[in-house]
Amino acid sequence: MTVVPVELGERAYDIHIGAGTLAQSGALMKGVAGKNAHNLPVVTDANVAALHYPALARSLEDAGFTPLPIVLPPGEQTKSFSYLENLLDSLLALEIERGGLVVAFGGGVIGDLTGFAAGILKRGVAFAQIPTTLLSQVDSSVGGKTAIDTRHGKNLVGVFHQPRIVIADTDVLKTLPARELLSGYAEVMKYGLLGDENFFAWLETNASSALAGDEAAIAHAVAHSCRMKADIVVRDEREAGDRALLNLGHTFGHALETELGYSDLLTHGEAVAMGCVLAFQLSARLGLCPEADAIRVENHLAAIGFRTRIAQISGKRPGAEALLGHMRHDKKAEGGRMTFILARGIGKAFVTRDVEEKDVLRLLAND
Ligand code: GLY
Repeated sequence: MTVVPVELGERAYDIHIGAGTLAQSGALMKGVAGKNAHNLPVVTDANVAALHYPALARSLEDAGFTPLPIVLPPGEQTKSFSYLENLLDSLLALEIERGGLVVAFGGGVIGDLTGFAAGILKRGVAFAQIPTTLLSQVDSSVGGKTAIDTRHGKNLVGVFHQPRIVIADTDVLKTLPARELLSGYAEVMKYGLLGDENFFAWLETNASSALAGDEAAIAHAVAHSCRMKADIVVRDEREAGDRALLNLGHTFGHALETELGYSDLLTHGEAVAMGCVLAFQLSARLGLCPEADAIRVENHLAAIGFRTRIAQISGKRPGAEALLGHMRHDKKAEGGRMTFILARGIGKAFVTRDVEEKDVLRLLAND
Protein backbone atom coordinates (compact mmCIF):
# COMPACT_ATOMS: atom_id res chain seq x y z
CA MET A 1 0.00 0.00 0.00
CA THR A 2 1.23 3.51 -0.85
CA VAL A 3 0.30 6.37 1.45
CA VAL A 4 0.26 9.86 -0.06
CA PRO A 5 -0.10 12.65 2.51
CA VAL A 6 -2.03 15.81 1.67
CA GLU A 7 -0.28 18.31 3.91
CA LEU A 8 -3.01 20.84 4.59
CA GLY A 9 -2.26 21.66 8.22
CA GLU A 10 -5.31 21.06 10.39
CA ARG A 11 -7.13 19.72 7.32
CA ALA A 12 -4.32 17.27 6.45
CA TYR A 13 -5.17 13.71 5.47
CA ASP A 14 -3.71 10.62 3.83
CA ILE A 15 -4.59 8.85 0.60
CA HIS A 16 -4.16 5.07 0.91
CA ILE A 17 -3.62 3.42 -2.47
CA GLY A 18 -3.18 -0.20 -3.47
CA ALA A 19 -4.74 -3.54 -4.34
CA GLY A 20 -6.97 -4.76 -1.50
CA THR A 21 -7.17 -1.55 0.56
CA LEU A 22 -10.96 -1.93 0.75
CA ALA A 23 -10.49 -4.81 3.16
CA GLN A 24 -8.42 -2.53 5.38
CA SER A 25 -10.99 0.29 5.39
CA GLY A 26 -12.30 -0.52 8.86
CA ALA A 27 -8.86 -0.41 10.45
CA LEU A 28 -7.92 2.74 8.51
CA MET A 29 -11.20 4.43 9.42
CA LYS A 30 -10.54 3.79 13.12
CA GLY A 31 -7.65 6.20 12.90
CA VAL A 32 -9.83 9.07 11.70
CA ALA A 33 -13.35 8.50 13.08
CA GLY A 34 -14.23 10.39 16.24
CA LYS A 35 -14.52 8.42 19.50
CA ASN A 36 -18.31 8.33 19.26
CA ALA A 37 -18.56 7.54 15.56
CA HIS A 38 -19.84 3.95 15.77
CA ASN A 39 -22.58 4.26 13.18
CA LEU A 40 -21.12 5.04 9.77
CA PRO A 41 -23.52 6.10 7.02
CA VAL A 42 -22.13 4.78 3.73
CA VAL A 43 -23.49 6.67 0.73
CA THR A 44 -23.17 4.65 -2.45
CA ASP A 45 -24.97 3.82 -5.68
CA ALA A 46 -26.76 0.63 -6.64
CA ASN A 47 -24.02 -0.54 -9.04
CA VAL A 48 -21.18 -0.11 -6.56
CA ALA A 49 -23.30 -1.53 -3.73
CA ALA A 50 -24.04 -4.73 -5.67
CA LEU A 51 -20.38 -5.32 -6.48
CA HIS A 52 -18.45 -4.07 -3.49
CA TYR A 53 -20.61 -3.11 -0.50
CA PRO A 54 -20.36 -6.53 1.22
CA ALA A 55 -16.54 -6.33 1.30
CA LEU A 56 -16.60 -2.80 2.73
CA ALA A 57 -19.31 -3.63 5.28
CA ARG A 58 -17.34 -6.67 6.48
CA SER A 59 -14.21 -4.61 7.00
CA LEU A 60 -16.09 -1.86 8.86
CA GLU A 61 -17.93 -4.39 11.05
CA ASP A 62 -14.68 -6.21 11.86
CA ALA A 63 -13.34 -2.89 13.13
CA GLY A 64 -16.38 -2.41 15.39
CA PHE A 65 -18.40 0.01 13.24
CA THR A 66 -22.01 -0.35 12.21
CA PRO A 67 -22.26 0.62 8.53
CA LEU A 68 -25.60 2.15 7.51
CA PRO A 69 -25.96 1.99 3.73
CA ILE A 70 -27.73 4.77 1.82
CA VAL A 71 -28.04 3.46 -1.72
CA LEU A 72 -28.79 5.95 -4.52
CA PRO A 73 -29.53 5.27 -8.16
CA PRO A 74 -26.42 5.36 -10.36
CA GLY A 75 -25.91 8.35 -12.64
CA GLU A 76 -25.30 12.09 -12.67
CA GLN A 77 -28.96 12.93 -11.86
CA THR A 78 -28.25 12.45 -8.16
CA LYS A 79 -25.96 15.51 -8.15
CA SER A 80 -29.07 17.67 -7.77
CA PHE A 81 -30.87 19.79 -5.20
CA SER A 82 -33.58 17.16 -4.75
CA TYR A 83 -31.17 14.28 -4.07
CA LEU A 84 -29.10 16.56 -1.82
CA GLU A 85 -32.22 17.30 0.24
CA ASN A 86 -33.09 13.60 0.41
CA LEU A 87 -29.57 12.70 1.44
CA LEU A 88 -29.47 15.36 4.16
CA ASP A 89 -32.82 14.08 5.43
CA SER A 90 -31.54 10.50 5.49
CA LEU A 91 -28.40 11.53 7.37
CA LEU A 92 -30.41 13.55 9.90
CA ALA A 93 -32.81 10.62 10.35
CA LEU A 94 -29.77 8.49 11.24
CA GLU A 95 -29.02 11.09 13.93
CA ILE A 96 -25.51 11.80 12.72
CA GLU A 97 -23.76 13.98 15.26
CA ARG A 98 -21.27 16.81 14.63
CA GLY A 99 -18.49 14.40 15.57
CA GLY A 100 -19.72 11.73 13.15
CA LEU A 101 -18.23 10.52 9.90
CA VAL A 102 -19.99 10.00 6.59
CA VAL A 103 -18.50 7.64 4.00
CA ALA A 104 -18.70 8.35 0.26
CA PHE A 105 -18.34 5.02 -1.55
CA GLY A 106 -18.51 5.36 -5.32
CA GLY A 107 -17.37 7.46 -8.26
CA GLY A 108 -17.21 11.21 -8.71
CA VAL A 109 -20.97 11.71 -8.50
CA ILE A 110 -21.29 10.02 -5.12
CA GLY A 111 -18.14 11.74 -3.82
CA ASP A 112 -19.25 15.22 -4.93
CA LEU A 113 -22.79 14.86 -3.58
CA THR A 114 -21.80 13.22 -0.30
CA GLY A 115 -18.93 15.65 0.30
CA PHE A 116 -21.28 18.58 -0.21
CA ALA A 117 -23.92 17.09 2.11
CA ALA A 118 -21.24 16.45 4.77
CA GLY A 119 -19.88 19.98 4.27
CA ILE A 120 -23.19 21.65 5.11
CA LEU A 121 -24.78 19.12 7.51
CA LYS A 122 -24.73 20.65 10.99
CA ARG A 123 -22.28 23.21 9.52
CA GLY A 124 -19.86 20.47 8.56
CA VAL A 125 -19.27 16.87 9.57
CA ALA A 126 -16.26 14.75 8.64
CA PHE A 127 -16.35 12.52 5.61
CA ALA A 128 -14.25 9.77 4.07
CA GLN A 129 -13.77 9.14 0.38
CA ILE A 130 -13.60 5.57 -0.92
CA PRO A 131 -13.46 6.21 -4.67
CA THR A 132 -14.30 3.30 -6.97
CA THR A 133 -13.58 4.69 -10.44
CA LEU A 134 -10.23 5.62 -11.97
CA LEU A 135 -11.40 9.21 -12.45
CA SER A 136 -12.42 9.60 -8.82
CA GLN A 137 -9.29 7.83 -7.49
CA VAL A 138 -6.91 10.17 -9.32
CA ASP A 139 -8.90 13.39 -9.30
CA SER A 140 -12.28 14.10 -7.73
CA SER A 141 -11.81 12.30 -4.38
CA VAL A 142 -8.69 14.34 -3.58
CA GLY A 143 -8.66 18.06 -2.88
CA GLY A 144 -12.01 18.77 -1.28
CA LYS A 145 -14.06 20.09 -4.18
CA THR A 146 -17.70 19.12 -3.70
CA ALA A 147 -20.74 20.21 -5.71
CA ILE A 148 -24.07 19.51 -7.30
CA ASP A 149 -25.30 20.50 -10.77
CA THR A 150 -28.00 23.10 -11.38
CA ARG A 151 -30.09 24.05 -14.39
CA HIS A 152 -27.48 26.74 -15.06
CA GLY A 153 -24.64 24.28 -15.39
CA LYS A 154 -22.61 21.56 -13.73
CA ASN A 155 -20.86 21.87 -10.36
CA LEU A 156 -22.14 25.41 -9.79
CA VAL A 157 -23.24 24.95 -6.16
CA GLY A 158 -20.85 23.43 -3.65
CA VAL A 159 -18.23 23.97 -0.97
CA PHE A 160 -14.59 23.16 -0.41
CA HIS A 161 -14.67 20.43 2.22
CA GLN A 162 -11.62 18.19 2.59
CA PRO A 163 -12.14 14.50 3.37
CA ARG A 164 -10.53 13.00 6.50
CA ILE A 165 -9.11 10.09 4.53
CA VAL A 166 -9.12 8.71 0.98
CA ILE A 167 -8.95 4.95 0.39
CA ALA A 168 -8.34 3.97 -3.24
CA ASP A 169 -8.46 0.21 -3.83
CA THR A 170 -7.06 -0.44 -7.31
CA ASP A 171 -8.61 -3.95 -7.32
CA VAL A 172 -12.04 -2.34 -7.52
CA LEU A 173 -11.11 -0.88 -10.91
CA LYS A 174 -11.21 -4.41 -12.36
CA THR A 175 -15.01 -4.33 -12.36
CA LEU A 176 -15.22 -1.04 -14.30
CA PRO A 177 -16.51 -1.15 -17.89
CA ALA A 178 -13.56 -0.72 -20.30
CA ARG A 179 -14.88 2.61 -21.61
CA GLU A 180 -15.15 4.06 -18.10
CA LEU A 181 -11.64 2.91 -17.19
CA LEU A 182 -10.18 4.44 -20.36
CA SER A 183 -12.13 7.67 -19.73
CA GLY A 184 -10.59 7.95 -16.26
CA TYR A 185 -7.17 7.48 -17.83
CA ALA A 186 -7.50 10.91 -19.49
CA GLU A 187 -7.14 12.44 -16.00
CA VAL A 188 -4.05 10.29 -15.29
CA MET A 189 -2.34 11.36 -18.50
CA LYS A 190 -3.26 14.97 -17.73
CA TYR A 191 -0.77 14.97 -14.83
CA GLY A 192 2.09 14.01 -17.14
CA LEU A 193 1.10 16.71 -19.62
CA LEU A 194 0.71 19.44 -17.05
CA GLY A 195 3.80 18.91 -14.98
CA ASP A 196 5.87 15.77 -15.44
CA GLU A 197 7.31 14.74 -18.79
CA ASN A 198 8.97 11.65 -17.25
CA PHE A 199 5.59 10.43 -16.05
CA PHE A 200 4.15 10.99 -19.52
CA ALA A 201 7.03 8.98 -21.01
CA TRP A 202 6.36 6.23 -18.45
CA LEU A 203 2.71 6.22 -19.49
CA GLU A 204 3.63 5.97 -23.18
CA THR A 205 5.30 2.66 -22.32
CA ASN A 206 3.06 1.38 -19.54
CA ALA A 207 -0.47 2.75 -19.98
CA SER A 208 -1.73 -0.22 -22.01
CA SER A 209 -0.61 -2.75 -19.41
CA ALA A 210 -1.96 -0.59 -16.57
CA LEU A 211 -5.34 -0.44 -18.28
CA ALA A 212 -5.21 -4.17 -19.05
CA GLY A 213 -4.99 -4.93 -15.32
CA ASP A 214 -1.25 -4.95 -14.48
CA GLU A 215 -1.55 -4.36 -10.72
CA ALA A 216 1.82 -2.73 -10.16
CA ALA A 217 1.38 -0.44 -13.17
CA ILE A 218 -2.11 0.77 -12.27
CA ALA A 219 -1.12 1.27 -8.62
CA HIS A 220 1.87 3.34 -9.72
CA ALA A 221 -0.27 5.40 -12.11
CA VAL A 222 -2.86 6.13 -9.41
CA ALA A 223 -0.27 6.88 -6.71
CA HIS A 224 1.78 9.19 -8.90
CA SER A 225 -1.35 11.04 -10.04
CA CYS A 226 -2.47 11.47 -6.41
CA ARG A 227 1.00 12.68 -5.42
CA MET A 228 0.88 15.33 -8.14
CA LYS A 229 -2.66 16.35 -7.25
CA ALA A 230 -1.80 16.54 -3.53
CA ASP A 231 1.16 18.74 -4.34
CA ILE A 232 -0.97 21.16 -6.37
CA VAL A 233 -3.79 21.23 -3.80
CA VAL A 234 -1.32 22.00 -1.01
CA ARG A 235 0.09 24.90 -3.06
CA ASP A 236 -3.33 26.28 -3.93
CA GLU A 237 -6.23 24.71 -2.02
CA ARG A 238 -8.89 27.17 -3.25
CA GLU A 239 -7.79 27.55 -6.85
CA ALA A 240 -6.41 31.06 -6.73
CA GLY A 241 -3.63 30.04 -9.13
CA ASP A 242 -1.86 26.76 -9.86
CA ARG A 243 -4.81 24.50 -9.11
CA ALA A 244 -6.34 25.68 -12.39
CA LEU A 245 -3.62 23.62 -14.13
CA LEU A 246 -5.77 20.59 -13.26
CA ASN A 247 -8.25 21.92 -15.81
CA LEU A 248 -5.92 21.14 -18.71
CA GLY A 249 -8.14 19.97 -21.57
CA HIS A 250 -11.28 20.94 -19.65
CA THR A 251 -12.12 24.28 -21.32
CA PHE A 252 -12.38 22.54 -24.69
CA GLY A 253 -13.72 19.36 -23.08
CA HIS A 254 -16.60 21.06 -21.26
CA ALA A 255 -17.58 22.93 -24.44
CA LEU A 256 -17.75 19.62 -26.33
CA GLU A 257 -19.74 17.94 -23.56
CA THR A 258 -22.18 20.85 -23.33
CA GLU A 259 -22.68 21.02 -27.10
CA LEU A 260 -23.34 17.25 -27.19
CA GLY A 261 -25.83 17.56 -24.33
CA TYR A 262 -23.66 15.40 -22.01
CA SER A 263 -24.73 12.44 -24.12
CA ASP A 264 -23.14 9.06 -24.59
CA LEU A 265 -21.37 10.34 -27.71
CA LEU A 266 -18.49 11.55 -25.55
CA THR A 267 -17.78 10.76 -21.90
CA HIS A 268 -16.18 13.39 -19.65
CA GLY A 269 -12.79 11.68 -19.94
CA GLU A 270 -13.06 11.33 -23.70
CA ALA A 271 -13.88 15.05 -23.89
CA VAL A 272 -10.88 15.86 -21.67
CA ALA A 273 -8.59 13.71 -23.86
CA MET A 274 -9.77 15.53 -26.99
CA GLY A 275 -9.46 18.81 -25.07
CA CYS A 276 -5.82 18.03 -24.18
CA VAL A 277 -5.03 17.42 -27.85
CA LEU A 278 -6.71 20.74 -28.75
CA ALA A 279 -4.84 22.59 -25.98
CA PHE A 280 -1.51 21.27 -27.29
CA GLN A 281 -2.45 22.03 -30.90
CA LEU A 282 -3.39 25.58 -29.94
CA SER A 283 -0.13 25.94 -28.01
CA ALA A 284 1.80 24.73 -31.07
CA ARG A 285 -0.08 27.04 -33.44
CA LEU A 286 0.61 30.00 -31.19
CA GLY A 287 4.31 29.13 -31.32
CA LEU A 288 4.40 28.32 -27.60
CA CYS A 289 5.11 24.62 -27.82
CA PRO A 290 6.97 22.38 -30.31
CA GLU A 291 4.64 20.85 -32.92
CA ALA A 292 6.33 17.51 -32.16
CA ASP A 293 4.92 17.58 -28.60
CA ALA A 294 1.37 18.14 -29.84
CA ILE A 295 1.80 15.19 -32.23
CA ARG A 296 3.21 13.04 -29.41
CA VAL A 297 0.17 13.75 -27.21
CA GLU A 298 -2.24 12.88 -29.99
CA ASN A 299 -0.33 9.73 -30.98
CA HIS A 300 -0.35 8.42 -27.41
CA LEU A 301 -4.06 9.00 -26.94
CA ALA A 302 -4.90 7.48 -30.32
CA ALA A 303 -2.68 4.47 -29.60
CA ILE A 304 -4.65 3.54 -26.49
CA GLY A 305 -8.02 3.99 -28.14
CA PHE A 306 -9.17 7.60 -27.74
CA ARG A 307 -10.72 9.64 -30.51
CA THR A 308 -8.53 12.71 -30.81
CA ARG A 309 -10.32 14.85 -33.44
CA ILE A 310 -13.70 16.58 -33.32
CA ALA A 311 -14.41 15.13 -36.78
CA GLN A 312 -14.33 11.62 -35.23
CA ILE A 313 -17.40 12.30 -33.08
CA SER A 314 -20.24 10.44 -34.76
CA GLY A 315 -23.41 12.27 -35.77
CA LYS A 316 -23.61 16.03 -36.15
CA ARG A 317 -20.19 17.70 -35.89
CA PRO A 318 -20.12 20.31 -33.09
CA GLY A 319 -19.68 23.71 -34.81
CA ALA A 320 -16.77 26.00 -33.97
CA GLU A 321 -19.00 29.01 -33.15
CA ALA A 322 -21.23 26.97 -30.84
CA LEU A 323 -18.20 25.55 -29.00
CA LEU A 324 -16.69 29.01 -28.61
CA GLY A 325 -20.04 30.23 -27.21
CA HIS A 326 -19.90 27.55 -24.49
CA MET A 327 -16.30 28.47 -23.70
CA ARG A 328 -17.26 32.11 -23.16
CA HIS A 329 -19.78 30.90 -20.55
CA ASP A 330 -17.41 28.47 -18.84
CA LYS A 331 -17.44 29.06 -15.09
CA LYS A 332 -13.69 29.64 -15.21
CA ALA A 333 -14.08 32.65 -17.57
CA GLU A 334 -13.37 35.98 -15.87
CA GLY A 335 -14.19 39.48 -17.03
CA GLY A 336 -15.37 38.01 -20.34
CA ARG A 337 -11.93 36.40 -20.97
CA MET A 338 -11.80 32.64 -21.35
CA THR A 339 -9.28 30.74 -19.25
CA PHE A 340 -7.00 28.33 -21.08
CA ILE A 341 -4.40 25.93 -19.86
CA LEU A 342 -1.73 25.93 -22.57
CA ALA A 343 1.73 24.40 -22.62
CA ARG A 344 5.31 25.24 -23.52
CA GLY A 345 5.89 21.52 -23.99
CA ILE A 346 4.92 18.20 -22.40
CA GLY A 347 5.05 18.71 -18.61
CA LYS A 348 5.09 22.51 -18.92
CA ALA A 349 1.50 23.76 -18.69
CA PHE A 350 0.51 27.27 -17.64
CA VAL A 351 -2.70 29.22 -17.10
CA THR A 352 -3.54 32.11 -19.44
CA ARG A 353 -6.40 34.41 -20.38
CA ASP A 354 -4.35 35.80 -23.23
CA VAL A 355 -5.85 33.89 -26.14
CA GLU A 356 -7.58 35.51 -29.11
CA GLU A 357 -10.98 34.10 -30.06
CA LYS A 358 -10.06 34.03 -33.74
CA ASP A 359 -7.21 31.57 -33.04
CA VAL A 360 -9.56 29.29 -31.11
CA LEU A 361 -12.20 29.48 -33.84
CA ARG A 362 -9.71 28.61 -36.56
CA LEU A 363 -8.50 25.61 -34.57
CA LEU A 364 -12.02 24.33 -33.84
CA ALA A 365 -13.19 24.80 -37.42
CA ASN A 366 -10.31 22.77 -38.85
CA ASP A 367 -9.98 19.97 -36.30
N1 GLY B 1 -10.72 18.45 -10.59
C1 GLY B 1 -10.04 19.67 -10.54
C2 GLY B 1 -9.68 20.09 -9.16
O1 GLY B 1 -9.82 19.31 -8.24
O2 GLY B 1 -9.25 21.19 -8.97
